[in-house]
Amino acid sequence: MHIIVGITGGIAAYKTPELVRLLVKAGHEVRCAVTEHALQFTTRATLETVSSNPLYSDLFAGNDHGTEHISLKDWADWMIVAPATANCIGKMANGIADDALSTLLLAMPTQRVLLAPAMNSQMWNHPSVQHNLEVLHQWGVHTVGPESGVLACGTDGIGRMAEPVAIADKIRDLAASSTTITPQRRLANQRWLVTAGPTYERIDSVRFIGNYSSGKMGYALAEALAKAGAEVELVSGPTALGDIDSPNVNITRIESAREMYAAATRLFPSCHGAILSAAVADYRPESTADHKLKKQGDKGMTLHLVQNPDILATLGSMKGTGQTLVGFALETDNEMANATGKLQRKHLDYIVMNSLRDAGAGFGFDTNKVSIIAADGQITESPLLSKKEIAELIINTVTN
Ligand code: CTP
Repeated sequence: MHIIVGITGGIAAYKTPELVRLLVKAGHEVRCAVTEHALQFTTRATLETVSSNPLYSDLFAGNDHGTEHISLKDWADWMIVAPATANCIGKMANGIADDALSTLLLAMPTQRVLLAPAMNSQMWNHPSVQHNLEVLHQWGVHTVGPESGVLACGTDGIGRMAEPVAIADKIRDLAASSTTITPQRRLANQRWLVTAGPTYERIDSVRFIGNYSSGKMGYALAEALAKAGAEVELVSGPTALGDIDSPNVNITRIESAREMYAAATRLFPSCHGAILSAAVADYRPESTADHKLKKQGDKGMTLHLVQNPDILATLGSMKGTGQTLVGFALETDNEMANATGKLQRKHLDYIVMNSLRDAGAGFGFDTNKVSIIAADGQITESPLLSKKEIAELIINTVTN
């Protein structure tokens, strides 16, 4: 698992490197996040050494424009805060995010957070701390400890942070029993192919036949798959979109349908599935001039077109057991019959149908509205949603 260990400013922070060591030994990858006060009790060098990862301590460090808390929460399966001070608990219960750790804590789903509180007994018994914990428990946040014993202030009482072994055991048990929560990285160890964007079919050295596809849907699908833990091979036609900021996405940039065909048929055999969202040109000019064609007097011009290979149908005929193949259908009339016909003819498991009749759906828009038709006839309809939300719906439907 990927675990973030957050450390706030309490004396028990001196024990946290031991917790990190236990988690790493159990095979987890750990990233540590600290408050400024935590570094009074433990050190950057210790935490970076035991976790073998850089420490997250500053919202605005680096050049990712202050969004590392979002990429970190996407990376993490769980977040532990040990020790969690009264201040940390109070901030979380009241939605306060004023430093790197508290911001990350609010970005995490509450059911994926385990707090190990540690403080003096009077503070622990204070109605505000107890009230804040009650609120956090209602939201699904988990806690471990505190225990009774001798406290840093010299008194005996409740407030000691649970021992690192107890915290490591608790996270193991929580992970084992969390089947009801959608695991964030449920597609880890899977490889998916996605095609995106238009294809350009060259007429001469300066002209091509193309279409209005922006590639946004395919890029959103690649991002959603990567977010779910999959390794993604994105074969992209010419788009204005930049690289996807994820080490899990490998982009192969192509221009023509035949180049997309070559890349997709090469990559598909090693993939668990493929989602072909590209708007592939069905035809290309029979010949391509390597110079700019000149006008022929005032006569018209005839371009002779030949058919491109059908990538989706080819993958359908190559498909092995256990592979999932998803196509798109952009229809203007007889939508359902045409889409279902394509699903059967090309041996697909799902077809995602766009209707150009829906306002806000299709080429160029940031929104889309689709029907996902399964080979067994089941249909999942979406309302008009952002392409990011549509991508998540498609991924959840076709990978379940
Ligand atoms: N597609 C493909 N290769 C092609 C043409 C289309 O892989 N040469 C894929 C698209 O990526 C999409 C699906 O096929 O997933 C449907 O594309 P569409 O153009 O709607 O369908 P066609 O099969 O071309 O059918 P028609 O032109 O008759 O509507």
